[in-house]
Amino acid sequence: MHAGPWLVVTTFLLTHVVVANPLRRAPPVVTLDSATVTGTQFGRVNRYLGIPFAQSPVGDLRFRRPEPIAPYTESFSALTYGKACPQQDVQLSLPGILGLADSTTDFLTNTAWGVALPDGEDCLTINVVTPASATPALNLPVIVWIYGGGFQIGSSSLYDGGSVVEKSISMGEPVIFWLRASIRLAFGFLASQEVKDAGVANLGLHDQREALRWVQKYIHNFGGDPTKVTIWGESAGAVSVSMHMVANDGDTEGLYRAAVMQSGTPVPVGDVTKAQVHYNNIVENTGCSGESDTLACLRTLDYEVLKGAVDQTPSITGYNTLVLPWLPRTDGTFIREDGQRLVQQGKIANVPYIVGDCDDEGTLFALILNNLTTTSDVRGYLKDVWIPDATPAELDQILALYPADITKGSPFDTQIFNALTPQFKRVAALLGDAAFQAPRRMFLDHSADTQNTWSFLSKRLKATPFLGSFHASDLLNSFGSGDLAEYIIHFTNALDPNGNGITSWPKYTADTRKLMTFQDQLLQPRIITQDNYRQEAIAFLTAVMLAHPI
Ligand SMILES: *[C@@H]1O[C@H](CO)[C@@H](O)[C@H](O)[C@H]1NC(C)=O
Repeated sequence: MHAGPWLVVTTFLLTHVVVANPLRRAPPVVTLDSATVTGTQFGRVNRYLGIPFAQSPVGDLRFRRPEPIAPYTESFSALTYGKACPQQDVQLSLPGILGLADSTTDFLTNTAWGVALPDGEDCLTINVVTPASATPALNLPVIVWIYGGGFQIGSSSLYDGGSVVEKSISMGEPVIFWLRASIRLAFGFLASQEVKDAGVANLGLHDQREALRWVQKYIHNFGGDPTKVTIWGESAGAVSVSMHMVANDGDTEGLYRAAVMQSGTPVPVGDVTKAQVHYNNIVENTGCSGESDTLACLRTLDYEVLKGAVDQTPSITGYNTLVLPWLPRTDGTFIREDGQRLVQQGKIANVPYIVGDCDDEGTLFALILNNLTTTSDVRGYLKDVWIPDATPAELDQILALYPADITKGSPFDTQIFNALTPQFKRVAALLGDAAFQAPRRMFLDHSADTQNTWSFLSKRLKATPFLGSFHASDLLNSFGSGDLAEYIIHFTNALDPNGNGITSWPKYTADTRKLMTFQDQLLQPRIITQDNYRQEAIAFLTAVMLAHPI
């Protein structure tokens, strides 16, 4: 057989069919070291998915700091997401009585509280989304997105980010590289004396740091500028961003130049050893208790056995809600003190940042606690679960500052409505302030005057039954076509959220305390308000929690 006619046919197809269909192009490729990585193009956006950025944390690397990836030598296709990191057994049940719209339920159970599958330990991958026009010469600003999920669930596959890149292109600031790195969740925040002694605390933060080092090394090949990195997260992702700001006593190591935090700043957590009881339970439930080196024993376990034991520790949708067992804690080396104390001491990266909350941060968590129906139930909960070390006088004062009066609770400004139980709105107000509003205000109090900062409050979706402007509802505004997305894209470019034609967003200073407040569209969509609500109550909560970290 001779190949002549086939060559002619092939040449014909290449020259005619390809030219006849200009949308059909060769898939995009990027060179990493000596490897070629093939992605996909869809419209104006390229995607490179599931690129390993650190050595797989399995076998003896389980419960150890991430090891850098070896230089890439073999070409590969980056067409699909890698595995999600181990997802804790978390179930948010939304009773029919709430009467939520299908779209709200869908958003809550699939994105904000979504469990991503398949999951597994071999999960340290990064996903890069770029404008299709990007070339190394363009040097575009870079966004690194860190997802939320209580350090228990979540995955980069839940947040496509193509919409953000598309929007940046439409704005004429085609600048956004969107990177999403997976981090070990519960497996990455194991905490105990043993963990502290071995220097393997806060591995999830180290995973993120390793991903940021990967960005420094490789993002130029995709067309990004490693000197223009913004780290951006929501909920546990925002807490992570803020912990990077106080890690190393505020030394960024040049890994990022700006930060965006949606519903998350350092929360009052104590030392790594404070989770000892949960660690001991895992050790016991896996048969490792007789061992002299329990960590070494945990490293040898079958994944399913270890996962089963982690699943039995308190989950964010359980009665402990936000009193999470696995989250960034003080380890004495990377996180040298309670994050809030580092903030107080000004040991915080001097970079511009945006930080904001939703108006009704606590409602979803109060929903989980809907069996607290009397004042004494609420008091018991604070005493038994939230702040066991608080004095009786402190508990009395908290309850006085957060009264049972349903018109004062959260969802705020909804008068007598939404009182699922007589205590629901009170608990929602208390939890939302304790975990989100108070830490945010404290963060601003200690840094707004030393660096450029902007703060927001989201009151969108206020009409959601019982939940109001619930935790994570602002995600709908920061992705896709939302105005928060527009501000963040400006900020990523120019280190200032203000840009053409959109309501001017004044800086936050300790003196002026201006908030960009997003409201529902039937009201004015954006107004500037003061960050002075519940002043006395929030100040008191801050003081009590700082004295008694979880
Ligand atoms: C509420 O339920 C939890 C278990 O889900 C239980 O431990 C707690 O005692 C209950 N509280 C009240 C006040 O019934």
